[in-house]
Amino acid sequence: PVFVAPAMDLDMFRHPSTQGNLDILRSYGNHIIEPAEGELASHLVGKGRMEEPERIVEILETFFAQDSEKPLLGKKALVTAGPTYEKLDPVRFIGNYSSGRMGYCVAERLAELGASVTLVSGPTSLEPAVGGIDLIRVESAVEMLEACRAPFLDADITVLSAAVADYRPMEQAETKMKRETKGDFDLRLTANPDIAATLGATKRSGQRMIGFALETDRGEEEAMRKMKAKQLDAIVLNSLSDKGAGFGGTTNKVTIFDSQGRATSYPLKSKKEVAKDIVDYIIGLG
Ligand code: C5P
Repeated sequence: PVFVAPAMDLDMFRHPSTQGNLDILRSYGNHIIEPAEGELASHLVGKGRMEEPERIVEILETFFAQDSEKPLLGKKALVTAGPTYEKLDPVRFIGNYSSGRMGYCVAERLAELGASVTLVSGPTSLEPAVGGIDLIRVESAVEMLEACRAPFLDADITVLSAAVADYRPMEQAETKMKRETKGDFDLRLTANPDIAATLGATKRSGQRMIGFALETDRGEEEAMRKMKAKQLDAIVLNSLSDKGAGFGGTTNKVTIFDSQGRATSYPLKSKKEVAKDIVDYIIGLG
């Protein structure tokens, strides 16, 4: 097996020739350890920092770990991640600030522990950093639900971390809307399907489903209500009032509730570390 941990300036990493070459390496079955985001040798800030050596060693150790160290070997997992984009016209959409990072970290951790993972991702700039992940890219909530249906049927573990838009425009313009000809207008929205609830309604016994709740107030109450409504086995609450928790950043602070309402709280950690806690918690559910 060959692992590549590229490091370079952000423009160079982003360049289509570099990305094309990485795709060629992937197509040969090589493993790409994606560079991290942060300050670069040029003092520019962006994606291109070589992944931390400790993390590279950890990825290699997990890859070469004996099967006995991979508790999820033979299990199938489905993860949703990222925002959804709800199209208004060919160039505009309604979206949200989700980076997708939490979901990607969970998918990577599940794969590291041996699960074969399908990651259904809304638009993000992320790539899975470990092998064993089948990535399906979608844009809208409706597309995300359709992409989830087949993998959900035989998923042992489903983690719904996507920030799905609650509404989509009732109509999508075929051509770009022009202010000059359209003037003021009212936008009519229609509710999107609830992916978690739709899948939850057909859940078999033994299938584990975990969702997320991002709340600004009455967090616990809302998390419990959502867990019941969507038939989840557990829900991960991140409170927006906690500094460093939630959408855009690289850290998160979570409390996980089980269906009995028992809470397990974790301190502020990197999303990679939070993903480990979440996956350990899921394994603990049995
Ligand atoms: O948006 P809400 O707070 O209800 O999201 C809670 C959980 O439900 C999250 O796990 C989210 O991924 C999931 N969800 C979904 N489809 C939606 C809305 C939310 O799967 N349309």
